[in-house]
Amino acid sequence: MTGQSKSSDESERTGEPRLPGDLRREDLVARMIRVDQAGEYGARRIYEGQLAVLGRGPSGPTIRKMYEQELVHLEAFDELIAARRVRPTALQPLWHVAGFALGAATALMGEKAAMACTVAVEEVIDAHYAGQVEALGEEEAALKETIESFRAEELEHRDTALAAGAEQAPAYPLLSGAIKAGSRLAIWLSTRI
Ligand SMILES: [Fe+2]
Ligand SMILES: [Fe+2]
Repeated sequence: MTGQSKSSDESERTGEPRLPGDLRREDLVARMIRVDQAGEYGARRIYEGQLAVLGRGPSGPTIRKMYEQELVHLEAFDELIAARRVRPTALQPLWHVAGFALGAATALMGEKAAMACTVAVEEVIDAHYAGQVEALGEEEAALKETIESFRAEELEHRDTALAAGAEQAPAYPLLSGAIKAGSRLAIWLSTRI
C-alpha cells in the first residue's frame, strides 16, 4: 500500500490506462451494464428454448439449474439498469426471439448440441466478463465483484456442458464457431444499440 501514492489512484480507475478518447468513464460503465443486461437476458432465453425442448428429458434438471442461475444474473443487471438509469438495449425484442430460437434449435439437434451451444456462449461471455473486470477500476469495486462472481458461474456452466458431452455434438467445430460468432456480434450490437 505504501510507496504507490504517485499515480495509483489514476491507474486504478475504470478504463485506464486505455480509456477510449471518445467515451467518458460513466458512459463506459453504462455500456457495460447495458450489454451485460442484454447478455443475461439472451442467456435466459437460450435456456428457455432448451427447456421447451429438453425440459422433461434426462438433461432437464441440469439445464434448469443453469437457467436458475441466469435468472439471478439477469435480476442483478435489471437492478443496475434501474439504479443507474442506464438505457437498456433497444434490441431486447430481438434477443427475446433469437435467444429462444438458438436454444430451441440446438436442443432439437439433440442434448449434446444444446450443450455445445452452452459451451460456445459461455466461452464468449467468459472472455467478455474478463475484459470488463480488467477495465473496471477500484471506484467500481462492487460492480467488478458482481461480474467476477457471475463469470465464475458461467465457467461452471461451460464445464457442466463439457462434462455432458458437448464436444461429441454433430459438426461441433462448425456449430461452436457459428454460435461464438453470433454471440460476439450480439455483444457488439448490444453495447451500442
Ligand atoms: Fe449469466
Ligand atoms: Fe451462463
